[in-house]
Amino acid sequence: MAEQQAALTAQTWTHRWTFVLAAAGSAIGLGNLWKFPYITGVNGGGAFVLVYLICIAVIGLPIMMAETALGRHGRHSPIVSMRELARESGVSKWWGAVGWLGALTGFLILSFYSVVAGWAIDYTLQMFSGTFQGMSAAEIGSNFDSMLANPVQLTLWHSIFMLLTGLVIARGVHKGLESGVRVMMPALMALLLVVLIYSATSSGHFMEGLSFLFSFHPEDLSWDAVLAAMGHAFFTLSLGMCAIMAYGAYMPKKASIARTASSVVLLDTAIALMAGMAIFPLVFANGMEPGAGPGLLFVTLTSAFVSLPGGQMIGGLFFLLVVLAALSSAISLVEPTVAWVVERFSIGRAAATVAYCILVWLFGLGTVFSFNEWSGESAQLFGMTFFEFIDYLTANITLPLGGLLIAVFAGWTMKRSHIYKELNIPLGAFNLWRAMCRVVAPICVLTIFYFSTIEEPLMELLGITGK
Ligand code: PHE
Repeated sequence: MAEQQAALTAQTWTHRWTFVLAAAGSAIGLGNLWKFPYITGVNGGGAFVLVYLICIAVIGLPIMMAETALGRHGRHSPIVSMRELARESGVSKWWGAVGWLGALTGFLILSFYSVVAGWAIDYTLQMFSGTFQGMSAAEIGSNFDSMLANPVQLTLWHSIFMLLTGLVIARGVHKGLESGVRVMMPALMALLLVVLIYSATSSGHFMEGLSFLFSFHPEDLSWDAVLAAMGHAFFTLSLGMCAIMAYGAYMPKKASIARTASSVVLLDTAIALMAGMAIFPLVFANGMEPGAGPGLLFVTLTSAFVSLPGGQMIGGLFFLLVVLAALSSAISLVEPTVAWVVERFSIGRAAATVAYCILVWLFGLGTVFSFNEWSGESAQLFGMTFFEFIDYLTANITLPLGGLLIAVFAGWTMKRSHIYKELNIPLGAFNLWRAMCRVVAPICVLTIFYFSTIEEPLMELLGITGK
């Protein structure tokens, strides 16, 4: 035990900024650049965005603080930490199930995350090799569709992305992550700004894009969309599956949890909104459907890059940064599980990583086939393709459920004095945070669960209402 403790202490990040960088690396990824714009489009725009922003502030920030605090107090991999914290608080060791649920969720998310990151690898190479030169938006759209139709191509990129993830994990998260994220984040921001300025000045539809994103039409909002907005708040902040808890375990005691969590939340939200503001004007300029689905980022930005001078180089660089942002998120999907396997069994980190990555890779083939062989109705689960089902299950159900349990544990179960010491904020702020975790966040999550999964489908079943 003493040895284990020493090993863990040696792993504490020395620099206060490292936690912010690692957590931002986890949070900022495909969720911001690919998923946020596309599900905003599918769910009708402004009203969805508003609910998402409210969820970020009311549920996301308090739970981000809770997860970090639990991780730092527990100082182990999430599964062990949760069990130890439960013992310390005198409650059932079954709270360890939160760690298990997180491990399962991470596995499922990574299986499709890797496939989508693979699309970005494909686009990076196509951009750099000048494939899109002179293509119209419609041609770029059918280029995307033909990529999806080809399972061999998708499997190749999926394999390469899993290999990259495995290599970083096997070497240890600490080595490359800090310097990697430190360069990647400003570069990503800068390129996003380039696209944003292009959208604002050249698309001719900037205001239309903004009004789609920010004008609030409550009549557009179904409970299903509210659930998707809440689920996305968890997904984009990497909350509810113990990724942030695993990183919290390496955080130095002196660093301020409130300050670091707020920085991560702000940065993540800023990047998502920038991506949305860059993309929607281009959607309208190209006469595309906002609800076009998962190809939105790829098709709109590619058409913009093609019409910029030197745009294919900038575009190649942009998609490369998307791949890197996805990589730093993927690492955090794996880390809690591999950390646990290494801690629990006498298996080396490399062996654990290889076994884990092979399993995720295999499962990911289900997502690969969702876009071609299994895209038909006969292969659907609850009216969704395999990919849609795994995405729905994780973002809309297991992440909010995990987050709910974490909030309840931090707010109700853990000794007040312990969590107070961990957070180390003025009493008024602490009480506010605790009320959010104890009452506000759980009520929001449960209400949204109730209306979207019980009430609304029931009403529809009875034919009472459409919305
Ligand atoms: N937050 C990441 C993104 O937005 C995805 C992620 C979810 C990472 C959950 C870790 C845990 O892309």
